[in-house]
Amino acid sequence: GKSGYDHYMLKEINEQPTALRECFRGRLDELTGRVKLSELGNLEPNGIVTFVACGTSYHAAMVGTRLLQERGIPAQAFLASEFNLDTVPINPESVVVGVTQSGETADTMRALREANSVGATTVAVTNVVGSSAARETDEVLYIRAGPEISVAATKTFASQQAALTMLATVLSGQRSRELVQELRAVPDQIQSVLDTSSAREIAETYHGSDAYFFIGRGYHYPVALEGALKMKEITYTHAEGFAAGELKHGPLALVSADTPVFAIVTGDGRLAEKTIGNIKEVEARGTPVVAVTDGQSNVERYADHVLEVPASSSVTSSIVANVQLQLVAYWTANQLGRSIDKPRNLAKSVTVE
Ligand code: F6R
Repeated sequence: GKSGYDHYMLKEINEQPTALRECFRGRLDELTGRVKLSELGNLEPNGIVTFVACGTSYHAAMVGTRLLQERGIPAQAFLASEFNLDTVPINPESVVVGVTQSGETADTMRALREANSVGATTVAVTNVVGSSAARETDEVLYIRAGPEISVAATKTFASQQAALTMLATVLSGQRSRELVQELRAVPDQIQSVLDTSSAREIAETYHGSDAYFFIGRGYHYPVALEGALKMKEITYTHAEGFAAGELKHGPLALVSADTPVFAIVTGDGRLAEKTIGNIKEVEARGTPVVAVTDGQSNVERYADHVLEVPASSSVTSSIVANVQLQLVAYWTANQLGRSIDKPRNLAKSVTVE
C-alpha cells in the first residue's frame, strides 16, 4: 500500500534514503576507499563504453557517461531508439551498458540484443531481478531500489546514479575514501531535503505557469532534463531542460514572467559562476528564478527563491538536487489535481518500439 501517503510517487520519493542505503549495502569500503560490486565479472573496457537507455534512465546514462569520462574512460550515451549497428561501431571488444529500471523496455532490449549479436560484452543496470535485461546480458548490476509503482521514475533514478557512480569507480580502478564517504552521506542529505524542502510553497506559487524551464551544467545538466521530464509527465505542462549555456542560443526567446526557470547551482567553481551568468540573462527579462543550491556561491542574490541542498561533490550534489525537483513536480501536479501515479497516455513499462 501507500503507507499513509496520498500517492505512490510521494511514497517513493520518501523512500530514497532507504533505497540508496540498500544500493550501497556491502559495496562500499570506507577504510580503503574501494567499491566492490561482487556480482560483476572482470570488465575491461577496451575502447568506448556505450550506454543505451530511454527516458529517465537515459538521463542516468548521461551521468554515467560523464562519470567514466572524468575517470579517463571514453564513453557515449545513446537513446536506445537511436542506437543501431549501422551508425555505432560495436565489436566483440565493446562494452555496452543498458540502463533500464524495468529491464523490459523494448527499445533498450533491441539495442542490447544487437550488441549481443556482434559479440560485445553487455551489462544491464536494472532494478528487476529476472527481467529480460537481467537474463539476456553478460553482466548485471542491480540497483536494489525496491518496487516502483508510480509511472514516474523517482527513487530508481537516484539509485541508478548511485550504481553508475560505483560502476565508474570499479571500471577505472579508482580508490577514493572521499568519494565513498560522500556516497555514504547521500541518504542523510536526501533525508534533510525531504524534512525541510520548501518545494510545496514554490509549487503553490507557480502552478498554472505557461511553462517551466530547468538549467544546469555538468552533472546538473541531466538533472535539468530530468526535472523537466518529471514536470511534463505528471503536470501536463510544457517543461524543458537545457544545458545552461544553451539558453542564449534560442530558448531565451521563450522566457517570460510566466515561465519560472529552475537553476541548479552548487559549489563555487567555474560552472557555478557561468550558470549564475546565465541566470542574470533570464532575470533581466522579469522571469522568476528558483535556485537549487548549496549556498556556496552568491546565486541567492539573483534568485527569487532558493531550494537548499547540503554541500557535497558535484555528482552526489546532483543526486540530492534532483530530489528538490521531484518535489516541485509532485506538488505542482497535486495543485493541478492531476492523476499523479498514472499520468494520461503513459505506461510504466514500454514494451513496444
Ligand atoms: C519517466 C519514466 C520513463 C522511463 C523509461 C525507461 O518518469 O519513467 O521515462 O524512465 O520509459 O524505462 P526503463 O528504465 O524501465 O527502461
